[in-house]
Amino acid sequence: MKKYLLAIALVVLIGACSSNNSNEKKEAASVSPAPVADLSANPDYQKGLALIAKSDCLTCHKTDAKLIGPAYKDVSAKYEHTEANIELLAGKILKGGGGVWSPVPMTPHPQLSLEDAKQMVKYIFLLNK
Ligand code: HEC
Repeated sequence: MKKYLLAIALVVLIGACSSNNSNEKKEAASVSPAPVADLSANPDYQKGLALIAKSDCLTCHKTDAKLIGPAYKDVSAKYEHTEANIELLAGKILKGGGGVWSPVPMTPHPQLSLEDAKQMVKYIFLLNK
């Protein structure tokens, strides 16, 4: 009889554990995309991201880690989010840059319009560390 109870207790315990686990997973999944969902409702975010995805930026940049160029989140943290800095960084995207983060230069992007480059910077400035 005791063994029987023990077996039931074990089954209940295992059941409880596994259902707990699946709850945790669901919570984790619903917690992490929330800020992204907020951001993606922002038209500056969507347009900038689309332009960056279409261009070659992501061969050298990642959002949150240094690649060849600095992480976009680091760029966002370094500069005050002013119109003047949007112009400044857009200019560097168009003409190329170098010497700020490392001696490695950024290639120029003369094929982009100033408007598009500014839109990319607006997207970068929406990223927070
Ligand atoms: C060939 C690699 C490469 C590509 C492609 C590239 N970058 Fe960069 N980017 C760099 C490097 C390297 C730096 C750091 C330059 C420095 O130290 O001044 C940089 C710096 C930057 C900065 C910060 C500039 C500063 O002075 O702080 C921004 C903003 C930026 N890139 C945006 C972009 C965007 C947007 C694109 C796509 C249109 C792009 N990059 C494509 C390599 C690249």
